[in-house]
Amino acid sequence: ATINLEQQFQDRVDQDIRIEPKDWMPDKYRQTLIRQISQHAHSEIVGMLPEGNWITRAPSLRRKATLIAKVQDEAGHGLYLYSAAETLGISRAEMIDQLHTGKAKYSSIFNYPTLTWADIGTIGWLVDGAAIMNQVPLCRTSYGPYARAMVRICKEESFHQRQGFEILLTLSRGSEAQKAMCQDAINRWWWPSIMMFGPADDASPHTAQSMKWKIKRFTNDELRQKFVDICADQVKILGMELPDPELKWNAERGHYDFGKINWEEFWQVISGNGPCNKERIAARVKAHEEGAWVREAATAFATKRAQKQSA
Ligand code: ACO
Repeated sequence: ATINLEQQFQDRVDQDIRIEPKDWMPDKYRQTLIRQISQHAHSEIVGMLPEGNWITRAPSLRRKATLIAKVQDEAGHGLYLYSAAETLGISRAEMIDQLHTGKAKYSSIFNYPTLTWADIGTIGWLVDGAAIMNQVPLCRTSYGPYARAMVRICKEESFHQRQGFEILLTLSRGSEAQKAMCQDAINRWWWPSIMMFGPADDASPHTAQSMKWKIKRFTNDELRQKFVDICADQVKILGMELPDPELKWNAERGHYDFGKINWEEFWQVISGNGPCNKERIAARVKAHEEGAWVREAATAFATKRAQKQSA
């Protein structure tokens, strides 16, 4: 009977019929989605930290208001995604516990420090740009609640990407010091940004199955190549350079060739040894502990209200 159910499930996926929470699904499909969606949610939440670092130091009121709004958007994205994951039978408390105890991953990129204001522009351009490249196809992912959450997230991400590029454009037309700051931030964020797409396809344990289930619509390397192609052109508008001497248009392939990624660095960062991993988790745990009284008060209030309504 299981074989039949699995075949029916795969047939639905092949016909692009969305899978919904109450539908039968293979346990591995459920577990893969819980892993990916919760990792994605954690990334949005942890991703607030490097940028939050610059809210008090944004160079103008307009920049400060925009940055606050953007960081709030990330919190919202985390909440939609936790809700999408909860439809698969895991609680938010469990997911948060997995993050705090180091069992669940979050994106490698958020373990790098934000040293100057230009880093905020670069995060918008490159990090949110990479996020969009990965997330637009997820609007067509096979699991309904995840796909629907991605629609609004992508709209907001594209605003984030443009605000970042505009910060860099302003710096790139500024003083020599501002131009140098802009180039320095691009130099530091470029390689970590292209690592965001995950390991190369031949080193990615989950890609083949996730493609079959249409959780993923493109492989890690396919998305990375599209991203490199776009950035190689956009960087020219800034009059800056990507820090890769091997970056070169390949007319035969119709793509840019690019240099070798330092995978050792990637594996180190995702196993907890990046420049800011410990700091990031410590900040999340502290915020969670200091927020305990808010959760308790909200629960007490909800219980009281429920009692009143049933009385
Ligand atoms: N950072 C941290 N971990 C990563 C990263 C990364 N950039 N890329 C891959 N990994 C992890 C995977 O989670 C997996 O770990 P696990 O087996 O211990 O769970 C392992 O490395 C192997 O990678 P893959 O087999 O390629 O895993 P997967 O099929 O899940 O692909 C990917 C990884 C592309 C990140 C996928 O999970 C995905 O598309 N996720 C949704 C998007 C997302 O999470 N974006 C977050 C950053 S964007 C933002 O928040 C602004």
